[in-house]
Amino acid sequence: MGEHEAQAYKDNGTPEEQSRRQFLVNATLAVGGVIGLVLTVPLVGSLIPESMISPEKSAGGVWADLPKPDLSSLASKPGEPVKISFNFKYADGYLPATEKTEFVWGVKLTPEQDKTFRAKRPDLFGSPAEEVKYDAVVASFVMFSSICPHLGCRYQWNGDQKRFICPCHGSQFGPQGDHLAGPAPRGLDPLPFRDKAGAAQVTWIQYKSGQADRLIVAYS
Ligand code: FES
Repeated sequence: MGEHEAQAYKDNGTPEEQSRRQFLVNATLAVGGVIGLVLTVPLVGSLIPESMISPEKSAGGVWADLPKPDLSSLASKPGEPVKISFNFKYADGYLPATEKTEFVWGVKLTPEQDKTFRAKRPDLFGSPAEEVKYDAVVASFVMFSSICPHLGCRYQWNGDQKRFICPCHGSQFGPQGDHLAGPAPRGLDPLPFRDKAGAAQVTWIQYKSGQADRLIVAYS
């Protein structure tokens, strides 16, 4: 490169040329900002939980009816967990609503289990990150998510041993969901439960597995 070419390359131009260049830079940044805003608003909107939009939905998900016969069977056997399947529809952001079938393990606590629930579940009352943001026990009923908090397998109730046992890595939990053995980092996760005009309802929530803190990852 010759000396003149090098000089021309460093030349910043006249004041008019500089101001025109600055105007073009500002205009480009402004247009880019508007395009970014248009793209970002729908993405943020899809992350807002349904509960903030519709008053019919609660705890960040949707309320689903539990079958009455299962509830009656649960109420008649305090201390004996009952597997309860239910259907619910969930719409996530702009995606179409999907119908799902899930199941919970419901327990009608005995008076003794009810009294000792808090002491048995330090993982629920230890720190704000571990707590759930609703009542874990409602009228002595507790509904546990059927997902093992270790790595997400489905555990089962073993009536002989009087404990929940996960077939994947052997984690075990008492009837109050308390962690008894195995690699699970916390006890079972209770789900929101309510009585709405005579119908017992539950909200399905998926918590992140493999850690002590309860972090919601999905409602479907
Ligand atoms: S997934 Fe249940 S013990 Fe590992």
